[in-house]
Amino acid sequence: MYKPAITGTGVFTPETVITNAELVDAFNAYADKWNAEHAEAIAAGEVEAKEHSSEDFIVKASGIEQRYVLDKTGVLDPEVMHPLLRQRSDEEPGVMAEMAVDACRKALAQAGKTAADVDAVICAASNLERAYPAVAIEIQDLLGIKGFAFDMNVACSSATFGIQAAADMIRSGSIRSAIVVNPEICSAHLEWRDRDCHFIFGDVATAVLIERSEDATGPYFEIKSTRCATEFSNNIRNNNGFLRRSRPDGMKDRRDMQFMQNGRKVFKEVLPMVSQHIADHMADEGIEAADLKRLWLHQANKTMNDFIGRKVLGRDPEPGEQPNILQDYANTSSAGSIIAFSKYSNDMEDGDKGVICSFGAGYSVGSVIVERHG
Ligand code: COA
Repeated sequence: MYKPAITGTGVFTPETVITNAELVDAFNAYADKWNAEHAEAIAAGEVEAKEHSSEDFIVKASGIEQRYVLDKTGVLDPEVMHPLLRQRSDEEPGVMAEMAVDACRKALAQAGKTAADVDAVICAASNLERAYPAVAIEIQDLLGIKGFAFDMNVACSSATFGIQAAADMIRSGSIRSAIVVNPEICSAHLEWRDRDCHFIFGDVATAVLIERSEDATGPYFEIKSTRCATEFSNNIRNNNGFLRRSRPDGMKDRRDMQFMQNGRKVFKEVLPMVSQHIADHMADEGIEAADLKRLWLHQANKTMNDFIGRKVLGRDPEPGEQPNILQDYANTSSAGSIIAFSKYSNDMEDGDKGVICSFGAGYSVGSVIVERHG
């Protein structure tokens, strides 16, 4: 049995930011326009007027202050309200592959490795650009990696489930190393016209290089143990799928073809599930709260993370113990905990332990216990 280790991480961050102020302005302009167009129906009580969104609400309810997106012109245009991403020809790199390659190159550079050192690519994300060929195989090709590649989707838990898959293959010896990459174009599956959730998501890509610890040439995080769990729930759902063309209502603008959630229920049901999951995982590995240096949690909601941090540590987390990045990036689905890990782990010392944990649709929860070496 080999010891798998994270030897490099990389984050691709889009150049474009949408602040809460810009977002709310655009939404309110859209709502005013919609209300004017439906004035008669609203007056007759046939439809409800759209209420304004508010910056204060967004920060208070979620902790999100801004988000990065691939395109803001479409999102902020009250006539459009979705990103405008040019349709690429089959001869060009796909959008997901392009952002993924940037994150992968950064992870390789941090580890001091090249494509020749990698045996597999797992592209793990909550939405995939096409059915096939796998986006992972395109990334593999663009990077010049031999071996094999495949896509997987466990929504917001895709990264940690991908890490478990790669770590298990490395542990058993079937491969020496793998990149797990998470290109998340959340702006394209968010309904920007829905006040309840228009502030939630942003775009990003993250990558981790996982190798045998003996192959590491610099400091690394040994993957001590991983644990994944799922429980079916409809409270976070997106019905977009290839069968939609064959349905009688065809390609109509159906709300359920984008991200849908019952945020309150998610909050209530996922919190105990995640806290218990981490506690059980740590107990089974003989790790106590006092042994933990850091928690890198899924980045959906600040209150939620504060709660989980308190439950796991048995006290309020000290500043820096449970770093949040959601104020800058918003919810980036599976990539969130990896952004936090990538940005807030370099200061850790030999022997320090931490937990990376993601959770979300499915429901799904994945935890990865790591220990710093070097
Ligand atoms: N601006 C102003 N007010 C808003 C608003 C907005 N953009 N969106 C909703 N509101 C209002 C609602 O209409 C509601 O008003 P009411 O009390 O008069 O009915 C009130 O604010 C509370 O809305 P609610 O949806 O209950 O808010 P919340 O406190 O639950 O926060 C979330 C919403 C989504 C931030 C929160 O539920 C959450 O983060 N849940 C977990 C999400 C999660 O982890 N999902 C995983 C996805 S991967």
